[in-house]
Amino acid sequence: MCGIVGYIGGKEVYPILIDGLKRLEYRGYDSSGVAVFCANVPHIYKVKGKISDLERFIGDNPKKGTLGIGHTRWATHGEPNDINAHPHISMKGKFVIVHNGIIENYATLKKKLVNRGYTFKSETDTEVLANLIEYIYEFGKVSATDAVRFALNKVQGAYGIAVICTDECDKLIVARNSSPLVIGVGEKEFYVGSDATPFVQYTNNVIYLDNENMAVLTRNGKVDIKTIKNDVIKPEIQTVDLNFDEIEKGGYSHFMLKEIYEQPKSISDTIRGRVDLTHNSIVLGGLMPVMSKIMNARRIIIVGCGTSWHAGIMGEYLFEEYSRIPVEVEYASEFRYRDPVINSDDVVIAISQSGETADTLAAVKLAKEKGATVIGICNVVGSSISRETHAGVYTHAGPEIGVASTKAFTAQVMVLAMMALSIGKAKYNIAPEMYMSLLNELITVPQKIEEFLEKPDQVKKIAELYKNSPNFIYLGRGCYYPIALEGALKLKEISYIHATGYPAAEMKHGPIALIDNKMPVVVIAANRRGYDKIVNNVQEVKARKGIIIAIVREGDETISKMADHVIEVPKFTTAIGALITIIPLQLLSYYIAVMRGCNVDQPRNLAKSVTVE
Ligand code: G6P
Repeated sequence: MCGIVGYIGGKEVYPILIDGLKRLEYRGYDSSGVAVFCANVPHIYKVKGKISDLERFIGDNPKKGTLGIGHTRWATHGEPNDINAHPHISMKGKFVIVHNGIIENYATLKKKLVNRGYTFKSETDTEVLANLIEYIYEFGKVSATDAVRFALNKVQGAYGIAVICTDECDKLIVARNSSPLVIGVGEKEFYVGSDATPFVQYTNNVIYLDNENMAVLTRNGKVDIKTIKNDVIKPEIQTVDLNFDEIEKGGYSHFMLKEIYEQPKSISDTIRGRVDLTHNSIVLGGLMPVMSKIMNARRIIIVGCGTSWHAGIMGEYLFEEYSRIPVEVEYASEFRYRDPVINSDDVVIAISQSGETADTLAAVKLAKEKGATVIGICNVVGSSISRETHAGVYTHAGPEIGVASTKAFTAQVMVLAMMALSIGKAKYNIAPEMYMSLLNELITVPQKIEEFLEKPDQVKKIAELYKNSPNFIYLGRGCYYPIALEGALKLKEISYIHATGYPAAEMKHGPIALIDNKMPVVVIAANRRGYDKIVNNVQEVKARKGIIIAIVREGDETISKMADHVIEVPKFTTAIGALITIIPLQLLSYYIAVMRGCNVDQPRNLAKSVTVE
C-alpha cells in the first residue's frame, strides 16, 4: 500500500527519492509524487500512474536540492488522480506532507478548518492534516515540531507521515501510529522509508519508530524522538539485515518468478539453525519465553489475511495431527469485529509476511487485551506485528517484492510445521520413528522443490492451453485444501481469471454445477490418506466432461490415467512434504499471467502491505 520516502543531508535528493519510490512500487499504488526543496522552496511534482509516468512528467532537469519527500499512493479518500496524489501542501504553503494510513476523524477536522477559512484542493484526509498543522502553527505561534505534535494529538486513525516546514528547512519531521516508518541513519544524513528497502543501498543502520512517536531529523545529524505526549525517547539504532541484491530482479523477468525459484534457498534459511540433526531436535528460540503457555494451551487460534490465512489452515492440519491441540483459523478481519471468546489459556498465532497488515495487527491487539498469549510469524524483521506480539518466529524468507506471495507462504508453513513437530514431540504425541521421518521430510523439502523447478515446461504447456479460460476450479482434500485455495488465489490475483478453491468433497454441493467441457479443474491429488476419495472426486468431474489437471506424486498410476493433464512432483510421504504441491500452482498462475500480458509483480488494485482496514 502507500509508500513513503524522504531524505535530509548533503546528497542530491531527487535520485534518492525516485529510486526509493521505485523500490516501494511493490507495495501497490496508483499515483506518485515528490517534493524537492530547492533554496527552501518546495517544488512538487505528482501524477496519476507509475513512477515512470512521474519521471516522464518531471523530465530531464529536475530541481536540485538536498531535502525532500516522496510518496506512492494507493487511493482511499478520493480517486487516483494528480490532485489527490501526495505530497500535499498546506493552504498557505507552510507545510508539505506525505502520509500513509487513514485519518478517521478527517471530516470533523475539515469542517472546523473550513469554518476558519481554509479551502481544500483535494479530496484527501492528508490535506486536512497539512492544513491542521499549518493552522496550529500560525494560530498558536509554535514551532513546526510542536505544530505537528499538537495536530497529531487531535487526529484519530493511522498515520505514517513525513513533514517539512518551509520556514524550517533544516528539519525533516516524521511520525507514526499503526503505519510503519523507518529512519535510515547515515553520516550527517537521514533517510526515511515505509520500510528499509528505499535506502538499504546507502545504510543498514535504522531506527524503527514506535506508535505515537515522532522524530525530528536535522541536517547536522541530530535525531530527537518524542512521544506525541512530549515524553523524550532515547533513539535506538539497529542494524537491518537486508541485502541490496535481494531487492533486485537478478536476471529474472519478474520478482515473482525470482521468488518462486528462490524457495529452495528461502526454506533452507527458514529452517537453518532451528533443526538440529545431531540431537534430532527443533529449537525455535523466539518461542522459548512462551513455550509452557503453548504446551498447556487449551486452544490455538490462528489469524491472518490472504495467503497468510491459507498458511494458517495448513497450520491447523499440522498442529492437530502432530500436536493434538485444537486449532481455529480465522480471517483477522472477521475475528477482530466479533466479540471473540478468548481466555488466558488460549494461544493466538498471527501470521503476516509484512507484519503490517492492519486487520491482523488489530487482531493481535484485541487478543492481547483479552489475555491470550500472542505469537507472531512474520517475515519483515522489526515490523509492527513482530513488535506487538509476546513472542514470535521470523520466517527469514528474505524480502518478498512480488505482490502475489510465494516464498513467504512456503516459509510460513515451514515455521508452522516446525512448531507442530516440536510441540508434538514434547507432548509425546508423535512416535519416535514417525518424528524422525517427519524431520527428514522437513529438511528435504528444499531439495525436492529444486528438483521440480528444473522442469517447468510441463507447467508451461498447460498454461499455454488454458490461458484464455475465463474460469478455473481448484480442488483438494485435507491439507491439500488450503493448497487449492492458495492456487486459486494466485491465479485470480495476477491473471484476473476467476478461480475458486474448494474442498474436493464439497464440490458436489455447488461448484459441480459449473462443470462442463470447457472448465479446467485443477485437482491436487497427492493424498496417500484418502486417495480413493480423491479418485472419486476426479471421476465426478470427468463424468461431467470437466478438464482435469492433476498434481500427483511421481509414480502415481490411477489418477494419472484419468486426468487430461498431469503434473508430477517428487515423491514425499507426509503432510509436511505436501507443501511441494503449491510450487506447480504458483508457476501455473505465473505463466498464465505472463501469457495474458498482465503486470505480474504489481497486479491491478492489489497492495503488498495492506495498512488500511
Ligand atoms: C495482501 C497481499 C497478499 C497477502 C495479504 C496478507 O492482500 O496482496 O499477498 O497475502 O495482504 O499480507 P500479510 O503481509 O499480512 O501476509
